[in-house]
Amino acid sequence: MKLFNTVKSLQEELIPLKKQGQSIGVVPTMGALHDGHISLVNQAKEMSDYVVVSIFVNPTQFNNPEDLEKYPRTLEQDISLLERYGVDCVFAPDIKEIYPDHYTSPRIDLGMLGKVMEGKFRPGHFQGVVEVVKRLFEIIQPDSAYFGKKDFQQVAVIRYMTDFFHLPVKIIECPIMRSEKGLALSSRNARLSEEEKQQALVLYSTLDFAKNNTSNFPPKELAEKCAQLIHASELKLEYIEIVHPVTLEALEGEWVAGAVCCIATYCGEIRLIDNMTLIPEQEAVIR
Ligand code: PAJ
Repeated sequence: MKLFNTVKSLQEELIPLKKQGQSIGVVPTMGALHDGHISLVNQAKEMSDYVVVSIFVNPTQFNNPEDLEKYPRTLEQDISLLERYGVDCVFAPDIKEIYPDHYTSPRIDLGMLGKVMEGKFRPGHFQGVVEVVKRLFEIIQPDSAYFGKKDFQQVAVIRYMTDFFHLPVKIIECPIMRSEKGLALSSRNARLSEEEKQQALVLYSTLDFAKNNTSNFPPKELAEKCAQLIHASELKLEYIEIVHPVTLEALEGEWVAGAVCCIATYCGEIRLIDNMTLIPEQEAVIR
């Protein structure tokens, strides 16, 4: 496995491969890798000839400076893990490579996608995500890029951005990896105590409750019931929404195919998000 720290050295590797007709897949990450990231790597390996994993803790997407400062950084460990999983190369640039002095960040109005849920509670976050992902796409020119449904709204934003700028990259969404008990894997879980990890399971049990009750309540009422479950726990609820899978509009009286329940909570100091598709893509409940 090769390691590149500069755009120039990475491109010198990739350009000849593309000329030979090899397909390039990229898995963008901020490191502190876990099995969720590895599931994206495995999917990328299945679908592309050559897999690049980028590791870059992007400062522009952190709306909270303390979160950025405390974000776990485990580069050496990450590199040996990726080597074990047969990744072709790791791109771990420093900030000047991603944002050189002359760099101008892309202008895009995300509309509703940027205003609800994560967009509302983390102002500027998605502009930062768009900025870094667009830049990575420019540098790597991948055929496909792999993202986790764990960050459901992020995938919606990246799809929108890719269409908006007509970028020739196929966006592949991969399922959420969870611990045996149901906690969605996240780099931030490393900062939870054992007790908090236990408390955080309420996220999964609430989503499970939602999934099992779509035929008993309309979406808005079900979201309220779920909010009560969270309020009764140790977690501090930031939002819970049951939304349309593409527009992210909150559903009220009627179910739609692909409806997703999204939750953000604080568990102690740590902000956790999770989501679950409640209605299969092809089926809406007729009440
Ligand atoms: P990061 O949080 O490191 O996540 C990298 C990718 O791994 C994202 O696509 C995320 O959705 C996915 N992922 C995280 N936990 C997962 C899980 N439990 N199951 C499946 N996939 C999971 O998301 C980012 O970094 C950044 O915003 C990034 C896209 C790299 C831009 O900086």
